[in-house]
Amino acid sequence: MNKNIVCIGAGYIGGPTMAVIAKMNPDRKVYVCDINAKRIAAWNSKNYALPIYEPGLVDVVKEVRGKNLFFTTDIKSAVKKCDIIFVGVNTPTKMFGRGAGRASDLQFWEATAREIKNYADGDKIVVEKSTLPVRTAAAMEAILNDSAKYRFTVLSNPEFLAEGTAIKDLLSPDRVLIGGPETVEGRAAVREICDIYAGKDGKWVERYKILTTNVWSAELTKLAANAMLAQRVSSVNALAGLCEATGADIDEVARVMGADRRIGSKFLKAGPGFGGSCFKKDVLNLVYLCETFGLHTAAEYWSGVIKMNDHQQERIVSRLFKAMFNTLANKKIAMFGFAFKADTGDTRETPAGYVARLLNEEHVRLVITDPKAIENGKRDLAGLDGITWEKDPYKAAKDADAVLVMTDWKEYPALDWEKIFKSMRKPSLVFDTRNCLDAGALKKIGFRVLNVGK
Ligand code: NAD
Ligand code: UGA
Repeated sequence: MNKNIVCIGAGYIGGPTMAVIAKMNPDRKVYVCDINAKRIAAWNSKNYALPIYEPGLVDVVKEVRGKNLFFTTDIKSAVKKCDIIFVGVNTPTKMFGRGAGRASDLQFWEATAREIKNYADGDKIVVEKSTLPVRTAAAMEAILNDSAKYRFTVLSNPEFLAEGTAIKDLLSPDRVLIGGPETVEGRAAVREICDIYAGKDGKWVERYKILTTNVWSAELTKLAANAMLAQRVSSVNALAGLCEATGADIDEVARVMGADRRIGSKFLKAGPGFGGSCFKKDVLNLVYLCETFGLHTAAEYWSGVIKMNDHQQERIVSRLFKAMFNTLANKKIAMFGFAFKADTGDTRETPAGYVARLLNEEHVRLVITDPKAIENGKRDLAGLDGITWEKDPYKAAKDADAVLVMTDWKEYPALDWEKIFKSMRKPSLVFDTRNCLDAGALKKIGFRVLNVGK
């Protein structure tokens, strides 16, 4: 068995994860493959115009690209060169047929399994990096090992990094999870993957943080961890509405709840609801699994997390409508932030997209600004009239009736809000759905201010 690694799928997961694996394992060659030639060209671009924005990523890629990290569309030869194969292809929610709107669409990983089988020229360890329904590894094994000359051992190594902090999360993870079959080969394969995360000379993840389980526990833990985090966001947002109605303040409530170490302070920030490519998809996947196994009450419980999240975005538009005298038609609203969170250009499932569509239905003249997400946003909202994009937040706010803050970019509290106020139509409203601005200071300037949960 050689030590080389290939990852199939060069997206938000494949790119950063393999870059850090290459950095921490200079004695291994790491190949990252994709069918999307444009994406691979961007990973290879001379000026490091990488296909995704992630703080610190460029520096890691500069350090290892061309030394022991290689981006390529030649999946066939990469599979031949490497005995350890990570699969990091996309697993979006299925939008057709059985399980539409809930189940994972597994066509990409199945295509990958067949590619691996066709190209392999020896025994391989295949590692699921994508987030997959429980027992997917069994299906992958069945495809790979059916009438194959070589032996494939399938492991699950789900990824817990968050976008915006991917490099930090990868360099010092809370834990690494490796699930493997409880067989001699399975245990040997798990040891191989543990060695990768230990890094060269044991300089990466401490051994006690590398947790090993059976394959099904690993697959389910990934869905469960995302569902628990999403559930916390929905819970705090459910309390936010109650705060608005009663005069309580959600930031105070969250601060005091979070001081209880049993509850903890993370993921208690009220806002426009969770976005991103995974929370909704993974909770829906859990709902589908529960339904499949006849656990209907559990399915309904997890569905509530999504229902609450959708409701939060509708509530934002309703409150804006009410505060702007029950008519939004022809009013100019400047949306500050379109990415689903700060420090990423990713707009998949962004709450801002959902709110923008609702405002568009009300015939708002919407101007959207974002430091990193304008290109993705333009693609998402293509075909909608009445929406313009503006890099400069000051220009976006000029003559606007309201500023609607949707992403907590650190640039926004630092803006000159007096200047913004002067340039806006009166009365001027700021709806800060992230509670990231100084509401008191804004009120002093003359703004009407709305927050979430206050
Ligand atoms: P992505 O869409 O950014 O990247 C997936 C890539 O796989 C694409 O570039 C696509 O072209 C490629 N691909 C698809 N089929 C292929 C094939 N047959 N051969 C070669 N390449 C192929 O998706 P992502 O955000 O990187 O997510 C990938 C997986 O990782 C998903 O299952 C997701 O749930 C999981 N995940 C993502 C994150 C995240 O932060 N984005 C975090 C943890 C887990
Ligand atoms: C999330 C998980 O945090 C990762 O562990 C996981 O690997 C990843 O999903 C995945 O599987 O893709 P990510 O979606 O990148 O990571 O970002 P988060 O920081 O979790 O934020 C998700 C959403 O929740 C964002 O829209 C964020 O603004 C929102 N959020 C988060 C809140 O509204 N309040 C909070 O307190 C925390």
